[in-house]
Amino acid sequence: MQIYDEECQQVGRAERRIDVGATAIDKGGYRHFMAKEIAQQPSVIADVLNHYVKGDRIVLPDGLDFREVDRLSLVGCGTAHYAGHVAKYWFEALAGLPCDIDVASEFRYREPPLSPQSWFIAISQSGETADTLAALHYARDHVSRTVGLVNVGTSAIARDSDIALPTLAGIEVSVASSKAFTCQLTVLAILALKAAHDRGRIGDAELAGHLAELRAVPGLLQQTLDLSDHCRALSEWLSQAQDVLYLGRGALFPVAMEGALKLKELSYIHAEGYASGELKHGPIALIDRDVPVIVLAPYDHLFEKTISNMQEVMARHGQILLLSDHEGIAAANDGVYATLTMPGGGNLFQPILYAIPMQYLAYHTAVAKGTDVDQPRNLAKSVTVE
Ligand code: G6P
Repeated sequence: MQIYDEECQQVGRAERRIDVGATAIDKGGYRHFMAKEIAQQPSVIADVLNHYVKGDRIVLPDGLDFREVDRLSLVGCGTAHYAGHVAKYWFEALAGLPCDIDVASEFRYREPPLSPQSWFIAISQSGETADTLAALHYARDHVSRTVGLVNVGTSAIARDSDIALPTLAGIEVSVASSKAFTCQLTVLAILALKAAHDRGRIGDAELAGHLAELRAVPGLLQQTLDLSDHCRALSEWLSQAQDVLYLGRGALFPVAMEGALKLKELSYIHAEGYASGELKHGPIALIDRDVPVIVLAPYDHLFEKTISNMQEVMARHGQILLLSDHEGIAAANDGVYATLTMPGGGNLFQPILYAIPMQYLAYHTAVAKGTDVDQPRNLAKSVTVE
């Protein structure tokens, strides 16, 4: 390979060996890469925590003092965009830091006015997505710091950001993202906690409490993996559907959208993720007994609101799959088609846990339909064109 610059002059580049272990490129006994990558999540998330959290301290590169920033812009595409959307809830609620979230293809041409004290965070598994890279190039002329949250450390977005933060998911082969998403969420959760602490919204003790909650996530994820068989059983039902609706509130709303995206990508069934409170402004017209409605409702301060939306669906004969914890299921399982019991209740990092059944429902439905799970039609792992 020869490399040329803009003037067609040949340039030299140092050779760098990238160590790809054999385990990264075999299915490790699983039927598909996606199944392997879903199952790896407890261990890769533990890796992320080990990398960025030492005891009760968050360890990040210099230059990430959140006292200096007045606003964040988070940008990504597809699954990475939904990770940013979850993080918006965390940054705003924990750190009181205003946060904008956008898809890169819109951001790059919108000429958004950006505060010179703001930071821009590009989120990308590959670090090569053309729209996200272009958004980063726009932002770097307008903001005080650019951060690239990337899984591929040698990528263009990692190189062109002021600060690159690796998401440490390891190589993700399956086109539909799974472990890269939850690793992005974990790094973003750590950033949001750092922001909250830097800005004096939480003290040392509260930070330690939240970090303890985060450290519990790999163990809880391990329990969540046990839902695979139950999701497989439900896939017979889902694979008959033409449309599926996913509902969530708060930080679970973007997870609902990610669930719908996964189902579309893998099984080619039309699916939409909606904010539960928006149901009555349109999607309720779709409801009949043939449209499964998947409701994400941890037993927290928003539970009653989401359940009341769920009851509106049931009153129209919609068939509900309710995902909640023990308390939530005990309080609201009357008349639902099925339930999936999630671990824990009310903790801040539920979006990471709820991602797993989203992945398994899509995965098993795709297997039931016989689609190509790791290489869905018309999709690419990394989209380097517009
Ligand atoms: C493609 C992939 C998606 C991914 C998106 C963004 O559409 O199929 O799985 O979420 O690109 O990719 P990135 O590498 O920027 O995260």
